[in-house]
Amino acid sequence: MRTVYLETFGCQMNELDSELVRGHLESLGYRFTDDPARASILLYNTCSVREHAENKAFSRIGLAGVRKREGEDLLVGVLGCMAERDGVDMLRRHPQVDLLCGPGELDKLPALIDNAARAATAESGRRPVEDRVALAGNTSRRTTALAATEDDLESLDLARVFDPDRAAGRTRSAYVRITRGCNKFCTYCVVPHTRGAEVHRPPDGIVEECRRLAASGVAEVTLLGQTVNHYRYTHGVAVTLDGVERPQVGPGLSAFRNEVVDDPSVTTFAKLLARIHDEVPELARIRFLTSYPRDFGDDVLDVMATRPRICRYLHVPAQSGSNRVLKLMNRGYTVEEYLEFVDRVLTRLPDACIAGDIIVGFPTETDEDFEATKDLLRRVPFKNNYIFKYSPRPGTVAIDRFPDDVPEAVKKARNNELLALQAEIGAAVHAGWVGREVDVLVERITDRKSPEARSDADGRVTLGVGLSATATATEAAVQLSGRTPGDLITVFDASDRDQAEALLGTIVRVRIEGSGPLLLRGAMVASTGP
Ligand code: 5AD
Ligand code: SF4
Repeated sequence: MRTVYLETFGCQMNELDSELVRGHLESLGYRFTDDPARASILLYNTCSVREHAENKAFSRIGLAGVRKREGEDLLVGVLGCMAERDGVDMLRRHPQVDLLCGPGELDKLPALIDNAARAATAESGRRPVEDRVALAGNTSRRTTALAATEDDLESLDLARVFDPDRAAGRTRSAYVRITRGCNKFCTYCVVPHTRGAEVHRPPDGIVEECRRLAASGVAEVTLLGQTVNHYRYTHGVAVTLDGVERPQVGPGLSAFRNEVVDDPSVTTFAKLLARIHDEVPELARIRFLTSYPRDFGDDVLDVMATRPRICRYLHVPAQSGSNRVLKLMNRGYTVEEYLEFVDRVLTRLPDACIAGDIIVGFPTETDEDFEATKDLLRRVPFKNNYIFKYSPRPGTVAIDRFPDDVPEAVKKARNNELLALQAEIGAAVHAGWVGREVDVLVERITDRKSPEARSDADGRVTLGVGLSATATATEAAVQLSGRTPGDLITVFDASDRDQAEALLGTIVRVRIEGSGPLLLRGAMVASTGP
């Protein structure tokens, strides 16, 4: 059996897709390796959201081409959003690519691999392009809508075999998709074009998946959706013959204007959260990503306030602090509405932690617009903000309508200025936790004595050396890192490696003694289970 190397670029949704693809292929007998040199099948699960992630994937595809030209028997597959967006053009421009599989077609990957492998051995050379390509295509919004009732992708989510040592690189933490696709069409964003229309999974399937994950040892689930609070499932309209509910295309945005939360035939996001909390008590933590700042009802906040295992953490991107720019972005809210939302959150959940995303250098962004974004940052206690320089994405409205007119040097300067401001705000937020005790789900041993968290160009937070050693650290001590329910990265010492290893995946009570812009430092008080 051939050995597979699978590399993932981009967001959490892609990490989950890769985990599911891996589980599916393993169940069919494929073996996986972390070393591309030992693999004969190279799969790249790509991201198109920003140019940076695309360039990284292209460089890997280029290296695979070199190996093939040198005579290696390799099969190269491009999965995910780049495959969907570039389509067969990708095959023309990168002939080393053997197969393409869009994010909505991943259940077809084993068949594509089979076809591509048979093509490689066939005397007649390559098989027809259709055999090597599974994409939703240009009509994806319509076909996704029509196909949702007989959607095979659902089986991929349901058939997952959870391996706590591997999932998303986090111990005892798993992603659970509740919604695929997006109906928002922010003008800069490629996601509605590559992942198609919003499709919601039936609540019973989601609860069942959470239950199975908990039974296999998962302590924390993170529910995923591009606009997770738009989750809405109407019962009785999409039932198959066997009576099992199937995924369902989401309602238009107007459905959220006159919120009807009491309708028993509708499972709202609030009701789904409550169900998972109440029906899967083994889960220590339930989190969700990414929230859209509008249409976030008090019903969700009430469920969060009354259900202790739902984490008080919101990732709720503002994108800009200028109403003019927000309008050009088609975000659908004003700065005032964003602030009103944050006020509502902090009134009901005073210890909630808020994170966001900001794009700098959107077309026509002036110094004044940028100042407005700085003002927004000063007014919201963001624990962190992922800050991105605008990059025009093929297929989006913005690339067609608005020239990318903010010079790169200005984007860079604004990016750095915002990072510095966010570091100050993050430092103040984290300092507010000093002296308190928090529960930390322990994720990893950080071998270095005193790590500081940073976010990389893809906006992910990683740990590296940054702060000076704490006075209490001894030579034997091993440092652990994990997260609070509010997603605050917390580091503390275990007495030795044995203890550190035993604590991985458990929840530990930590007294916070110090802080930095992106993390808390403390000392263990007790292990509180589970
Ligand atoms: N340029 C820069 N950043 C972008 N994002 C999405 N599209 C673009 C783009 N074209 C950012 C947004 C979004 C995050 C996932 O990526 O901030 O919230
Ligand atoms: Fe993209 Fe906007 Fe949808 Fe988020 S809400 S995925 S930024 S279109």
